[in-house]
Amino acid sequence: MQEVYRYIEECDNIVIASPIYYQELTGQMLNIGSRFQTYFCAEYFRKEKPIKKEKKGAVILVGGGNGKVEKACDTACDLLRHIHCSRIHDLVLSHNTDTLPAAEDAEAVMGVQDIARFFNERQPAMPT
Ligand SMILES: Cc1cc2nc3c(=O)[nH]c(=O)nc-3n(C[C@H](O)[C@H](O)[C@H](O)COP(=O)(O)O)c2cc1C
Repeated sequence: MQEVYRYIEECDNIVIASPIYYQELTGQMLNIGSRFQTYFCAEYFRKEKPIKKEKKGAVILVGGGNGKVEKACDTACDLLRHIHCSRIHDLVLSHNTDTLPAAEDAEAVMGVQDIARFFNERQPAMPT
């Protein structure tokens, strides 16, 4: 995790990408995400700011069916906020992958391209 924490602290943008399992992020993703609680504790209990750099975030989800996605999206957005993502792109979702593979889902592919544009936008210069 030390390597992951270092990467999180230094990077500019973060994507959480996960299949939907039981309407949630996968267990593997939740295992990693649970370790972000250290940042929540630092900020809310110890009043520290371990992550100095503000980041942009995005969430990409794929689901085999067409059930609910809100829980998975809310969890991913919570995790992104724990790691200091001040701006989060709208959810990019590929649903019904049982019948249409995500790579052939034109709307989802366009959504991913839009995430790339969002991440590459320059922040307006700070007034002097
Ligand atoms: C344990 C498990 C739980 C799943 N739960 C859901 C679910 O709640 N909603 C859903 O849309 N798909 C669910 N799926 C299907 C996966 O999301 C789907 O396989 C995923 O989109 C990957 O698809 P692909 O490999 O065809 O891209 C589940 C799959 C597994 C293995």
